[in-house]
Amino acid sequence: MDPIRNPYAPGAGSPPPELAGRSKIREEVSVRLQRLRLGRPAKSMMLVGLRGVGKTVLLDQMRKDAEAEGITTVRIEAPENRSLPALLAPAIRLTLLHISKKEAAKDFAIRGLRALAGFASKLKVSFADIEVGLDYEPAPGLADNGDLEPDLAALLQQVGLAARAAGTAVVLFIDELQYVEEKQMAALISALHRCSQEQLPLTVVGAGLPQLRGRMGDAKSYAERLFDFPEIGPLAPPDARAAIVVPAKEEGVDVNEDAVSLITEKTHGYPYFLQEWGKHAWDTATESPINRRDVENASDEAVAALDESFFRVRFDRLTPTEKKYLRTMAELGPGPHRSGDIAEAMQRTSSSLGPTRAGLISKGMIWSPTHGDTAFTVPLFDQFMKRIMPGDAWKELS
Ligand SMILES: Nc1ncnc2c1ncn2[C@@H]1O[C@H](COP(=O)(O)OP(=O)(O)O)[C@@H](O)[C@H]1O
Ligand SMILES: [Mg+2]
Repeated sequence: MDPIRNPYAPGAGSPPPELAGRSKIREEVSVRLQRLRLGRPAKSMMLVGLRGVGKTVLLDQMRKDAEAEGITTVRIEAPENRSLPALLAPAIRLTLLHISKKEAAKDFAIRGLRALAGFASKLKVSFADIEVGLDYEPAPGLADNGDLEPDLAALLQQVGLAARAAGTAVVLFIDELQYVEEKQMAALISALHRCSQEQLPLTVVGAGLPQLRGRMGDAKSYAERLFDFPEIGPLAPPDARAAIVVPAKEEGVDVNEDAVSLITEKTHGYPYFLQEWGKHAWDTATESPINRRDVENASDEAVAALDESFFRVRFDRLTPTEKKYLRTMAELGPGPHRSGDIAEAMQRTSSSLGPTRAGLISKGMIWSPTHGDTAFTVPLFDQFMKRIMPGDAWKELS
């Protein structure tokens, strides 16, 4: 089929041609954000799930949904090496400048910008990466303690007051939230708690790896009461089918049912894999309908493309010991595995492997579903590890 018209979109954060199976959660978030704007209680949501399940594109869609309802939104991604205050400061500045255009909210927004000035100049001492334009002088005593937790609470409170005066809600959409360092996470949660106690229309909708839930609970034990943590997972068969069939149909191309079932089987319904298989099946097929044989012929290429894009980037960042740890896990099966079993298979003690395991968790490669268990954060990673480290040579790594 014409590669120029290929509708599928494999790639981190690439919007899919059909966002399948997510309408219920979109609706739920939309209702909550509109309640928030009215000052009604509404728990916020933290989307959690493995890599490649579609958290980023869902978060982006929710943001568009919110904008369409007249809600003021900000999009932030927490990278591994920047502080949360540094990410928040410019985003909050833009939000306040935007709100200040509304006459009824102008004074509140200016007070917010003064809070931001105090916040940024005092916290720059501890967070050197804060860089933000300052439009107003600080107001003494406003968000200028120099201590993140009270200052962030005071700042977000001002933003909430400005939002309320403007008749809007401010929603920060934060991706990769699991990378936020614990103290900064604690400050964020406590600031949101303050806003919710005062029924201010400001919240965060977040997304992150499955460890996010535990990390937020460790930062503040009451996090579970403030947020829900819906799990974003693989698509159920009818939704996986829609993800493949609908985009083709829009291009006037049919996909046979037995081709769809083979794709569903090979991908286990994981969105990233569905896009990759859809793309290669399309390129392989010579005419409509795309049939099972096309899918069979496309599978090697789909796997190779996944290895190069989705899996490989993660693998290349690992130390030899980390590779050996993951390869040992793969040898034991898809997981989760008891950490003790992994250590035993490596003929090491669990405690001597502690730093390796911690390194893998902070790189976002593995997580701990329950105490003492270890699981991959990337679906089907065990199979990839066996492909990239075949044979027995890996056993000699140290
Ligand atoms: N609901 C969905 N239906 C079809 N494809 C999807 C869906 N969600 C995500 N995708 C596709 O999956 C891939 C990964 O999405 P992404 O949002 O980057 O995942 P994550 O942030 O969870 O790692 C992208 O190619 C995207 O187009
Ligand atoms: Mg993502």
